[in-house]
Amino acid sequence: MKEHLIIIFGGSGDLASRKLIPALYSLYERKKKEAPFKILAVGRTSFTDKTFREHIIDKGEYSNKQFFKSVYYLQMDPSLEEEYPKLIDRLVHFEISDYLFYLATPPSLYESIPLNLKKCGLNIQDGHGKNIKPGVRKIIVEKPFGYNLDSAIKMNAILKDAFKEKQIYRIDHYLGKETVQNILALRFANTIFEPIWNRNYIERVEITAVEKMGIGSRGGFYDGVGALRDMVQNHLIQLLALVAMEPPVIYGEREFRDEVVKVYNSLKPLTKEEIPLRVVRGQYIEGEKKGEMALAYRQEKGVKSNSQTETFLAMKVQVANWRWEGVPFYIRTGKQMPTKVTEIVIHFRQTPHRLFSCREECPEQNQLIIRIQPNEGMVIKLDMKIPGSGFDVTQVPMDFTYDKLGEVNTADGYSRLLEEALKGDNTLFTRSDAVEASWRYFSPVLNYLTENSALPLYGYPAGSWGPLESEAIVSDGHRWTNPCKNLTNTNIYCEL
Ligand code: BG6
Repeated sequence: MKEHLIIIFGGSGDLASRKLIPALYSLYERKKKEAPFKILAVGRTSFTDKTFREHIIDKGEYSNKQFFKSVYYLQMDPSLEEEYPKLIDRLVHFEISDYLFYLATPPSLYESIPLNLKKCGLNIQDGHGKNIKPGVRKIIVEKPFGYNLDSAIKMNAILKDAFKEKQIYRIDHYLGKETVQNILALRFANTIFEPIWNRNYIERVEITAVEKMGIGSRGGFYDGVGALRDMVQNHLIQLLALVAMEPPVIYGEREFRDEVVKVYNSLKPLTKEEIPLRVVRGQYIEGEKKGEMALAYRQEKGVKSNSQTETFLAMKVQVANWRWEGVPFYIRTGKQMPTKVTEIVIHFRQTPHRLFSCREECPEQNQLIIRIQPNEGMVIKLDMKIPGSGFDVTQVPMDFTYDKLGEVNTADGYSRLLEEALKGDNTLFTRSDAVEASWRYFSPVLNYLTENSALPLYGYPAGSWGPLESEAIVSDGHRWTNPCKNLTNTNIYCEL
């Protein structure tokens, strides 16, 4: 692979110092030779190369300072066309001619930057003008991909006016997680699951991605965005797609992404009457967590004192196709929950006839729990005979944790995704039609939430599992599975 220059717009911002530079550092440490790159951070804040390097080093833990010799800084305002000659002048000084642009800016700049790159010819792979060398051009765009269907369509149009779809990498860092990719291996590298992976054997699916932290210093960004846009429309629905998709013919960019889009297109639209019955939203209020009082969302910095933004959302989703008709998918996300965990629970149907008794309450039907994070792995819950006389059964977990496969970087998807983008592989990035299909499903829900103050916004104490009302959407007497940090101990002993 040829050496790339990664140009990070928003280079002096939080995302760059918190996620991108650390991810690039870890990539550098792992793959110095295979994925060579230099970084040019671009931002409005005034830094020199030297002061920028010091600023970044201060914010992280980097044992190998050598890496920072490849990090540079350019002060410019990327929203202004007239600033771009500065960028071109700087690019000329690098020997590298392959560029990967990264939009780590507020979404308000997602229109002007691609447009300005196009106006100065930096989008064209063959080179343009005497100062721009021919080379590969790619652009990575951070979520949110639009804030509703119309804006997503507009954003796709602007991006595609400047770059071809193949050059565009819409990043959803969940797809970079090993354990998320492992859903594909679990389903399509094993024969035992396929015969039962359908409405005949699966009764319901739960997808939970909750966080222990509140909104912290991100109030300014989050208020007005909310859980649906921040987590559900992208990360959660992506997880749902991996559980629900048909096997692609081959594991290729087009084939894999086609199957994801098919799932999004099968999501059964919710009518106005159904939304209040299938969607529960909440906002955290003050609560005690391990002996300390946590602030209410409305007291957080950058949040309006009468904010209506949801920090919790639970929803019942239906996938209307041959495989899944009638199987509810319950999805849920929230901030200020008891623990940080992302997991998928596949609930299999009850045996048609119960032969055995149970000492106390009978165990639930079989479950397959796919743990995305932490304590990455999976558990199958099976019913077994309790030793001794009689024929009582109890449920036991059979587990596998990912660390058994050796040292795996299970935590963050950014490093893996950046590596894929450098290689030029779009498979794990979201295609424009997927973004639009997902918004087509969620936009009516979002509109309903914003237009109908009658839909309650329930307060839930920080440190709780969200509004009790969210139990009501898990129909037929079921309950949400509230996971523990330690994978096998759900409902036994919970270290939160
Ligand atoms: C981001 C959201 O996309 O995902 C954040 O903007 C959220 O609000 C984060 O905290 C969660 O990611 P992870 O990888 O920590 O589960």
